[in-house]
Amino acid sequence: MTNGNAATGLRDLNTGIPDADQLKGAVSAVYDDVASWSRTGDFWNWGMHCPDLLKELTDICPNFNAGVSDTFSEQLYYQTLQGLPFSKNDFRTLNVLEVGCGMGEGLNFLARLVDPARAVGLDLSAAAIRRANALLARGDRLGYVEGDAEQLPFQDGEFDLVINVESSHNYPDVERFFREVARVLRPGGHFSIIDVFDARSTKRFGELQEIQDFAWIYERDVTENVKSSIRRRMAPGSFFRKEYARKQMPMRARIIGGLGGAHYAGADFIGHRDALSKVLELTRIRPKFVAEYESYRHHLARRT
Ligand SMILES: C[S@@+](CC[C@H](N)C(=O)[O-])C[C@H]1O[C@@H](n2cnc3c(N)ncnc32)[C@H](O)[C@@H]1O
Repeated sequence: MTNGNAATGLRDLNTGIPDADQLKGAVSAVYDDVASWSRTGDFWNWGMHCPDLLKELTDICPNFNAGVSDTFSEQLYYQTLQGLPFSKNDFRTLNVLEVGCGMGEGLNFLARLVDPARAVGLDLSAAAIRRANALLARGDRLGYVEGDAEQLPFQDGEFDLVINVESSHNYPDVERFFREVARVLRPGGHFSIIDVFDARSTKRFGELQEIQDFAWIYERDVTENVKSSIRRRMAPGSFFRKEYARKQMPMRARIIGGLGGAHYAGADFIGHRDALSKVLELTRIRPKFVAEYESYRHHLARRT
């Protein structure tokens, strides 16, 4: 959801701030703020549009969104299960962890869809975790904890599946995150990661795939599907625009996001500028967003 461009957003917070703790402090402050004006049911990702995936999802669970979303974020979450060697029944015995769960809606959606034995969401944003626990937690079956992807507060081998959705691009040390995922997964467990990549993170990802703890078994480039979701959200009268207009957002959030929420919806990834963004950039009230991201990809590994 957030954009890591050269001029503003999260990654530029890293520029000249080598201190990872400072970066994480900034990231959690941004998402605490977003949590304060987000509405129940909000996902924090760019979504993906794939008619085949949507059909499959609808066949498994007709009316899965009860008409209260544009389905793109749910499709992105459903993509994280693709390539896994599990039937729906198999999930019932699995312990699932989502790292970077935001306000928990994605994990809640998957938990309702495949009903795992236990689902835990973790996020750096205390406000997001408070909201998730207040609104979505279900006893031992679904819960949310505040924590850092690079230092997971779990036992070795505690999980069968770790998912990570549009979050790892925020982490100062992705290798530490990968090593933590390897530690908390049981041997034979799976790691499903979907995120946006620029040239640098693509190269780093390739290097990290050499880590011996993982065998990479599936990948899908969903760049065009994600762009299609963003285009549809940016279209006049879209579900996203209507929802965005209803939000009680502070002025600073409107300025960063543009009137139609363009920035939050990933408009920079498709080179879209809404009218407010153009004016703010021309008058230099807001720096120009420079799109650096090249691809959006899903990768799946088995813990060796
Ligand atoms: C774009 S949001 C995606 C949230 C959710 N996965 C979704 O798709 O709705 C990125 C999330 O990553 C979280 N995050 C960033 N850095 C983190 C870290 N070091 N540890 C845990 N979570 C982190 C943020 O707080 C934010 O909730």
